[in-house]
Amino acid sequence: MPAIVLIGAQWGDEGKGKVTDMIGGGVDYVVRYSGGNNAGHTVVTPDGQKFALHLMPSGALWPNAAIVIGNGVVVDPKVLLAEIDGLAERGVDVSRLMISGDAHLIMPHHRALDRVVERYLGSSRIGTTGRGIGPAYGDKVARMGIRVQDLLDPGILRKKLEIVLRERNQVLFKVYNRKEIDVDAVVEEYLTYAERLRPYITDTRAVLWKGLEEGRTVLLEGAQATMLDMDHGTYPFVTSSNPTAGGACVGAGIPPTAINRVIGVTKAYTTRVGSGPFPTELFDDNGVHLRKVGREYGTTTGRERRTGWYDAVVARYATRLNGITDLVVTKLDVLSGLETVPLCVAYEIDGKRTDDMPLTQTEFHHATPIYEELPGWWEDISGAREFSELPANAQRYVERIEELAGTRVSIVGVGPGRDENVVRHSLL
Ligand code: IMP
Repeated sequence: MPAIVLIGAQWGDEGKGKVTDMIGGGVDYVVRYSGGNNAGHTVVTPDGQKFALHLMPSGALWPNAAIVIGNGVVVDPKVLLAEIDGLAERGVDVSRLMISGDAHLIMPHHRALDRVVERYLGSSRIGTTGRGIGPAYGDKVARMGIRVQDLLDPGILRKKLEIVLRERNQVLFKVYNRKEIDVDAVVEEYLTYAERLRPYITDTRAVLWKGLEEGRTVLLEGAQATMLDMDHGTYPFVTSSNPTAGGACVGAGIPPTAINRVIGVTKAYTTRVGSGPFPTELFDDNGVHLRKVGREYGTTTGRERRTGWYDAVVARYATRLNGITDLVVTKLDVLSGLETVPLCVAYEIDGKRTDDMPLTQTEFHHATPIYEELPGWWEDISGAREFSELPANAQRYVERIEELAGTRVSIVGVGPGRDENVVRHSLL
């Protein structure tokens, strides 16, 4: 009963969509298990149409896979319906979608609070996507959340909304000087969503258990990434869920023993959006070069991504934390043409070398990378499909990544195209 977890091994946007493209044909269920419409991936239909998805897994386009939105996701129903409609218009069969009744809903007060709190935080802001993700998980943990299943019971929906807004409206109005949110208007709006979502609401856990028992392949498609994990990332500059492999079990309701492969995706360099520590960040021409050549602009917000060299300390941490069995290194081609390629192998913190993640966030903020300078390569590598077709220095770079992470690199991305990959080990 193979369940495969696919996760980002850095701060997000590593190119997970490329992997889902590669293994899509062999997967029976594709599951989102954390986050919400803070994610973003551009998907290309087999006939070449391109569009962005935020809430649906990128595997939604595989014609034979069931699409599951698990209990760990926070669902903005308006966004979900727009994605359902967008896919249906392009001829994609959306009847394969199943949404957990236990997933929480993003409500208007979550979006309002996300934006206003960020504004009030000023220079201490997290740099959130402004989609209401943090406040929705906040209500969930505070046991004041409203779940997808509540859409099926108008009385309960109203009652729960009254309870939460009794408090949150005070905060919006008295603390942040914003308009209070009207219960009636929200109930009316959400009941229209309820009618349309009703056919998709299912006990997704039981569906996945059955699939696993029948020996089907389940792909748990992570959004965000390891270093944005609420518990294991650079708190508080994180997202409000657990995108790591452990979160996949909780957010989909499947047992850890069902997982037999964890694919970690990492760029050949590093990017991050939003605030927070980033030891290998570049503020010079090299950083601009990586942004331009790598087209590093956010899919969800359009923001410029921060760029930096590859950080092997982060990769090793992500490998151990998630139990990564296969690394996928994307965008190696972006590094072509550099005289030397620096690779961060450890940090210096207050005059001392550390090879692992430091104990405190303060130390991480003060970490200066210790680089190994590897010789670069000039060749266009986009035509390489076998490892031996890569220039010797590019091979050396990948092998060093592998050695430092302590796990094998199975795929290397050498260009933006679907097929522009060097495959060393099959992912299925
Ligand atoms: P939130 O998830 O909107 O609360 O944002 C929290 C942090 O996670 C911010 O730094 C965001 O930029 C970052 N973030 C959230 N989703 C993504 C993603 O899909 N890719 C990269 N960064 C993300």
